[in-house]
Amino acid sequence: MTTEIKKICEASLAEAKGILERGGAVAFPTETVYGLGADARSDEAVSAIYAIKGRPSDNPLIVHVHREYPLTELVYDERPYAAILREKFLPGPLTLVYRKKEGAVSDLVSCGLDTLAVRVPSHEGAQAFLRYTGMPIAAPSANISKHISPVSAGHVYDDLKGRIPLILEGGRCSGGIESTVCDVTGEYPVILRAGLVSREMICDAIGRCDVYVPKSGERVRSPGMKYKHYAPKCRTMLFDADKAGDAVDEFRRRSDAGERAFVLCADALKNLFPADKVLNLGRSDEEMAANLYELLHEGENAADLIIAIEPEKKDGVMAGVINRLTKACAEE
Ligand code: TXA
Ligand code: MG
Repeated sequence: MTTEIKKICEASLAEAKGILERGGAVAFPTETVYGLGADARSDEAVSAIYAIKGRPSDNPLIVHVHREYPLTELVYDERPYAAILREKFLPGPLTLVYRKKEGAVSDLVSCGLDTLAVRVPSHEGAQAFLRYTGMPIAAPSANISKHISPVSAGHVYDDLKGRIPLILEGGRCSGGIESTVCDVTGEYPVILRAGLVSREMICDAIGRCDVYVPKSGERVRSPGMKYKHYAPKCRTMLFDADKAGDAVDEFRRRSDAGERAFVLCADALKNLFPADKVLNLGRSDEEMAANLYELLHEGENAADLIIAIEPEKKDGVMAGVINRLTKACAEE
């Protein structure tokens, strides 16, 4: 199969719709990362997503809809606080997990859970795609399972060429890390995956927001949490924020031994290393989120080893950045 990259326009949207109607999958841009979308109502189409990515079959998918799509077709029992979050943050990088309406989408989307994760992306290209097809679109990030999520059409191409017919091109994703996943089925919202809508932002809007921490032995509420993720193809090492000195020593040792070592760090630390070996995350939280996957892609293509240093700040949007960075650098 040849894989084409096409800018979003009437003709490419019509082509995408045709592929989806035949049970296929296409990649499309969102404000967080590129998604691999297929008709959420079709068992065949949803199975194709898992097969294309090599994704474990117990890790559920998010359903994407355009901003006018009636959510009551997919889910029920929206709590008042969830309506407030929806009005305040959607369209945008917040995925809400609701009680699922039986039969609304394929059972394969939620892997047997009685909930459904719904997302309304704000990217204009994503909106155009969702409106044009009119379908609820099941979409994980458009990468091979466990690899770094794609923030450009080129990243999608590198991972999925030959496996999908079409990548809709919509520029580089501005957000840079995946949406916040928030369970809104209980009395209070619970963050299952940190992201660009931070816990603090949700607390400001409705007064309370918990963060899910799996208890040992418990069935994880967001099955994606138990898998290795976001990993570059080269080796990685991660140093704590207060261990920058150790990272400098490690960098010297490795470079002297002839390894191509690159350093991923915040702008504040860049002067500790040779300029051409620094993958600079930037200064603000949003900048670091926007740059993280782009730099991991750049690094894996240029280096034998990425030495990453955790930024100092851990709250707000940085909770999501640190979560992805830690997983990218984790052992199996
Ligand atoms: O920004 C994003 O969310 C991107 C773009 C493409 O929209 N999508 C994305 O999808 O990151 P994916 O499949 O890579 O991650 C979905 C996450 C997983 O951690 C999964 O376990 C969780 O959402 N999830 C999906 N449905 C769930 C449900 N019903 N209950 C709990 N967690 C769920
Ligand atoms: Mg993913």
